[in-house]
Amino acid sequence: MIVSAAGWVACSSNETKDAYDKFYGKGRSAREAEAVVADSIKRAERKSAREAEAAAAVPAAAPSGSVSLTPPAEVAALMEKNTCSVCHKAGERLVGPPWVEVAKKKYSIDEIVALVHEPKPEHWPDYPPMAPLAFVTKEDITVIGTWINSLNQ
Ligand code: HEC
Repeated sequence: MIVSAAGWVACSSNETKDAYDKFYGKGRSAREAEAVVADSIKRAERKSAREAEAAAAVPAAAPSGSVSLTPPAEVAALMEKNTCSVCHKAGERLVGPPWVEVAKKKYSIDEIVALVHEPKPEHWPDYPPMAPLAFVTKEDITVIGTWINSLNQ
C-alpha cells in the first residue's frame, strides 16, 4: 500500500507509518482514512479554542460527582503542546474518546505511552484511528497519563 508522504499526518518514522498502514489495511483505504483524520483535525481545530473555553467555564458532569474535569495548568499546557487537546476533551467525545472513558480502561502509564506511540484503533471501534504520535516524549505522556488515570474514581 502506498501512502504519499505529503498526505501523511504526523508521520515521524517509517516504522510508525507501517504500523498505521497496517491498521488502515484492515478496512478502508489509506487515502480515505487519511482524509478522515485530516478532516477531523481541521474541524477540531476550528472548534478547539471555543471548546477549550467552554471546558474551562462549564464544569462538565464528573463521573462520580467529585472529580474535577479541568486539568491542572501544567497538564493542560502539555496536552496543548502535544496536540492531544485538538482531539480529546475530558468529559465529552471530540475526535477521540473523552478522557473519563479512557480512564475507565485503567491502563498503566507504560501502556498509555505505548498507545500514544502506537495506537490500537480496535480498542475504539466507533472512532476514527488515532494517528501515532511518536514525537511525544515519555515524560510528557507520563504527566498527561497520570492525570487521565486520576479521573477514574
Ligand atoms: C488527530 C486526533 C488525535 C490526537 C491529536 C490525539 N488523539 Fe488520542 N485518540 C484519538 C482517537 C480517534 C482515539 C480512538 C481511536 C484509537 O485509539 O485509535 C484516541 C485514543 C486515545 C487513547 C486510548 C487508547 C486506547 O487504545 O484505549 C489514549 C490514551 C489517547 N488517545 C491519548 C492521547 C494523547 C496523550 C494525545 C496527545 C499526546 C492524543 N491522544 C492525541 C485521536 C487523537
